Amino acid sequence: MTLITLTDPRSPVSEAYRALRTNLSFYSLDKPLRTLVVTSPAPDEGKSTTVANLAVTMAQGGRRTILVDCDLRRPSLHALFGRQVEPGLTNMVLEEEGQPAFQETGVENLKLLAAGPRPPNPADLLGSQKVDRLIASLAEMADIVLFDAPPIIAVTDAAVLGAKVDGVLLVVSAGKTRRDHAQRAKEVLEKARVRIVGVALTNAPRDSSIGEYYT
Ligand SMILES: Nc1ncnc2c1ncn2[C@@H]1O[C@H](COP(=O)(O)OP(=O)(O)OP(=O)(O)O)[C@@H](O)[C@H]1O
Ligand SMILES: [Mg+2]
Repeated sequence: MTLITLTDPRSPVSEAYRALRTNLSFYSLDKPLRTLVVTSPAPDEGKSTTVANLAVTMAQGGRRTILVDCDLRRPSLHALFGRQVEPGLTNMVLEEEGQPAFQETGVENLKLLAAGPRPPNPADLLGSQKVDRLIASLAEMADIVLFDAPPIIAVTDAAVLGAKVDGVLLVVSAGKTRRDHAQRAKEVLEKARVRIVGVALTNAPRDSSIGEYYT
């Protein structure tokens, strides 16, 4: 997989990611979003692609950006940047006083925190107070911290994490995400007192620009 915002920044798809960035920046003018989780109801709906391209777009816009892979079950952000899964988030959580485990992305203003070694219970790890402290310290190092997360319906990870950040961006895939799954995901997030700040549509038909890349 390649990141279109890097390979073809002038394409309509990249423009769509910039529009998403702009919309998010208008979400809360008085208190800009500093920490944002991107997730979706079910697997394979475009979460990782969306969060990675959004991170690149924000970094290209001059914001100091940290991209964190919190999909400890199916990590993939490292691969998008041609990196290894370790070191990463779980190393930083386990060795709290240790060095930041960022990896280079080759993109100015963008740091990657990959997933790291798989813990026995990802939801417990993400729910720990150590993760609260880690999120707070990452937010101090950057203008925006973006988190990839597992799907909402299968496991609790995304809801647990979502409750610790400023907001959640929900990805839904045209023609793929089931209506009842989207509804259920919304209920799960609301029950966990997560703030849904927006919905991004992937896999859209051709005249809708995020989809054009894939046709
Ligand atoms: N905007 C998009 N339009 C069409 N297809 C897309 C879009 N974004 C991602 N895809 C494709 O959808 C597939 C899944 O993408 P991705 O890995 O980002 O999904 P995911 O939700 O993170 O999956 P997982 O549940 O495994 O973490 C990939 O083949 C990707 O190329
Ligand atoms: Mg993914």
